[in-house]
Amino acid sequence: MEKLHFLAGVLLLLSQTHRSSLAGAEETLLETDKQALLDFSYNLRHSRPLNWNSQLPVCKNWTGITCSEDGSRVTSVRLPGFGFQGPIPDNTLTRLSALQILSLRSNDINGSFPLDFGNLKNLTFIYLQHNNFSGNLPLDFSVWKNLTIVNLSGNRFNGSVPPSLSGLSRLIALNLANNSLSGEVPDLNLPNLQLLDLSNNNLVGSVPQSLRRFPKSAFYGNNESLLDYTFVSSPIVLAPHEHGSRNGKLSERALLGIVIASSFLGLLGFGFLLLVCVLRTKTVEGFSGKLEKGNMSPEKAISRSQDASNKLVFFEGCNYAFDLEDLLRASAEVLGKGTFGTAYKAIMEDATNVVVKRLKDVSVGKRDFEQQMDLIGSIKHENVVELRAYYYSKDEKLIVYDYFSQGSVASLLHGKRGENRTPLNWETRLNIAIGASKGIARIHEENGGKLVHGNIKSSNVFLNSRQLGCISDIALSAIMSALAPPVARAAGYRAPEVVDTRKATQPSDVYSFGVILLELLTGKSPVHTINGGDEIVNLVRWVHSVVREEWTAEVFDVELLRCPNIEEELVEMLQIAMGCVVRAADRRPKMADVARMIEGVRKVEGVSDISHVGA
Ligand SMILES: *[C@@H]1O[C@H](CO)[C@@H](O)[C@H](O)[C@H]1NC(C)=O
Ligand SMILES: *[C@@H]1O[C@H](CO)[C@@H](O)[C@H](O)[C@H]1NC(C)=O
Ligand SMILES: *[C@@H]1O[C@H](CO)[C@@H](O)[C@H](O)[C@H]1NC(C)=O
Ligand SMILES: *[C@@H]1O[C@H](CO)[C@@H](O)[C@H](O)[C@H]1NC(C)=O
Ligand SMILES: *[C@@H]1O[C@H](CO)[C@@H](O)[C@H](O)[C@H]1NC(C)=O
Ligand SMILES: *[C@@H]1O[C@H](CO)[C@@H](O)[C@H](O)[C@H]1NC(C)=O
Ligand SMILES: *[C@@H]1O[C@H](CO)[C@@H](O)[C@H](O)[C@H]1NC(C)=O
Ligand SMILES: *[C@@H]1O[C@H](CO)[C@@H](O)[C@H](O)[C@H]1NC(C)=O
Ligand SMILES: *[C@@H]1O[C@H](CO)[C@@H](O)[C@H](O)[C@H]1NC(C)=O
Repeated sequence: MEKLHFLAGVLLLLSQTHRSSLAGAEETLLETDKQALLDFSYNLRHSRPLNWNSQLPVCKNWTGITCSEDGSRVTSVRLPGFGFQGPIPDNTLTRLSALQILSLRSNDINGSFPLDFGNLKNLTFIYLQHNNFSGNLPLDFSVWKNLTIVNLSGNRFNGSVPPSLSGLSRLIALNLANNSLSGEVPDLNLPNLQLLDLSNNNLVGSVPQSLRRFPKSAFYGNNESLLDYTFVSSPIVLAPHEHGSRNGKLSERALLGIVIASSFLGLLGFGFLLLVCVLRTKTVEGFSGKLEKGNMSPEKAISRSQDASNKLVFFEGCNYAFDLEDLLRASAEVLGKGTFGTAYKAIMEDATNVVVKRLKDVSVGKRDFEQQMDLIGSIKHENVVELRAYYYSKDEKLIVYDYFSQGSVASLLHGKRGENRTPLNWETRLNIAIGASKGIARIHEENGGKLVHGNIKSSNVFLNSRQLGCISDIALSAIMSALAPPVARAAGYRAPEVVDTRKATQPSDVYSFGVILLELLTGKSPVHTINGGDEIVNLVRWVHSVVREEWTAEVFDVELLRCPNIEEELVEMLQIAMGCVVRAADRRPKMADVARMIEGVRKVEGVSDISHVGA
């Protein structure tokens, strides 16, 4: 598949700090650009003020304007929702000959598509949706060789769909919906087109073979004759993915019942009594009481004094009102088989849901186990999934967490693709990254700054009540036998050095987190097959190979390309991710720095604020 060049310009924009001194000629070009912009703003009415002060540097201080890396040319104009009214004034924007991104969406611009835009040979992204443009579409699209996204939806364009769109080898998204286009849909050779929307026009005839891979919804609202073909398959469906594992529910449910029953039965009465004691002690004593007693929690005090070797130990602050017996009675459903054991969703009689994880291959004794549990249980942070309780016996080791009804990030990302899927938007993905990075950074502070998570992957990241990412399954690797050879999917998260040492470290956590960032950006699993084939692809290697050649839009999840105005954030996040997955462990950033960088990604004010007002 031919590689798509992506936004070389935008990438460059990111590091404006390296501005070289301007040579005279370049300055002249920037002057030209500046004058063109001023002419544009003077000749087009707008209801929202523009701070385009000719005394201030265009590249630094003008709203909606970004320049090339060397600050010599204006490469992007993004002025969505500024209340522009009237036609685009002649001979203004067209003088920005280095322009790559033009977004004037959600304004009230009318008149025809400017004929002179043919000069803007580098145009890559055109967002003019939600205006009042009329007349024909440009006749000759072939002048814009680099076109990647074209969104002209929600205008009053009429005439036919230009056949000259054919052959635009980099075109990924074409949205001409909600116009008045008529005639037949031409046969378009667009090998990389992933999103097509021609709905709500007046098109007739039949959909050409070349476009039958798109869902029928792309053609709704035209002459019925258009829908009269056999739908092949959507390219989005082809995206490789793994399904969330919810199978084997019934047998596993039965199994859990048996397992818990057999290991707890003898202890049940005793355990229950103990638990009542524990809970009572907790309420009476409160948190400060515990602190006074030093390290030994009342739970453990009881546990030891009575020599109760088996019981469910709750952590302070946990307000669950269930006990072993309840857990026993609960129905359970397999959530997934992970690196350290199987996770079940247990549904209590009072409708409380918890996650119970059965650990296999615990290599440490009871005391070390308890110590580690205490350490983990003491971490209270909004981005860290709290450990609620644990159980240790010779034969069974269980840990109890809160249940997150939205499922893990892995299932949100890779769960169900296809037409019925709710896309995971950029806002949510950014919040997942922000939250999870903070949670991991917090974990790395623990135990004198030495605690390692050891099993970071998207199936261990959830969304908390504020819809921020939070991380689960903390620091279990320390109590497990040496890391087993990873199952296929987990292998994708493992830093290169860990493959040999079998020992997780903070830098290897950073690597694994980088893989999650790549998952969020690409929508692809850390290890996947291409188009259902046999070839297994490692996500990190794949991204490297694509990025090495050119910065390409191919890297990014198609779902994200629907979101307007996020190109720069995507590229910036990609850079952070690439920094996390560098081979040399000592060159990876610290988790706290990663968290800071990710928070810095969302910084454009104004423009992104209104991005939800139609793209
Ligand atoms: C211009 O931009 C620079 C850098 O972004 C900023 O420090 C400065 O305050 C801005 N000046 C004005 C007048 O907005
Ligand atoms: C178009 O962009 C490329 C880099 O992406 C640049 O080298 C070239 O000079 C640009 N063309 C114009 C007319 O600015
Ligand atoms: C554009 O809109 C203005 C009013 O905002 C109107 O006077 C003018 O006729 C319109 N032009 C076209 C070509 O529709
Ligand atoms: C298109 O993009 C490529 C690489 O990103 C660049 O070299 C070229 O100058 C751009 N412009 C045109 C008109 O091809
Ligand atoms: C678009 O233009 C038409 C014709 O000039 C006018 O009737 C309509 O109100 C305009 N729509 C908007 C949203 O401004
Ligand atoms: C498109 O609309 C214009 C008026 O905006 C009209 O003059 C022209 O005939 C229309 N063309 C078609 C093909 O309907
Ligand atoms: C087209 O208009 C319909 C109805 O107003 C709206 O639901 C749909 O989202 C629009 N599509 C686009 C691509 O703007
Ligand atoms: C739809 O297309 C058919 C055949 O091209 C034509 O006979 C029919 O009149 C069209 N219907 C509408 C509502 O335009
Ligand atoms: C184009 O704009 C429409 C309407 O705002 C939006 O729904 C759609 O996601 C956009 N598509 C692309 C590819 O930008």
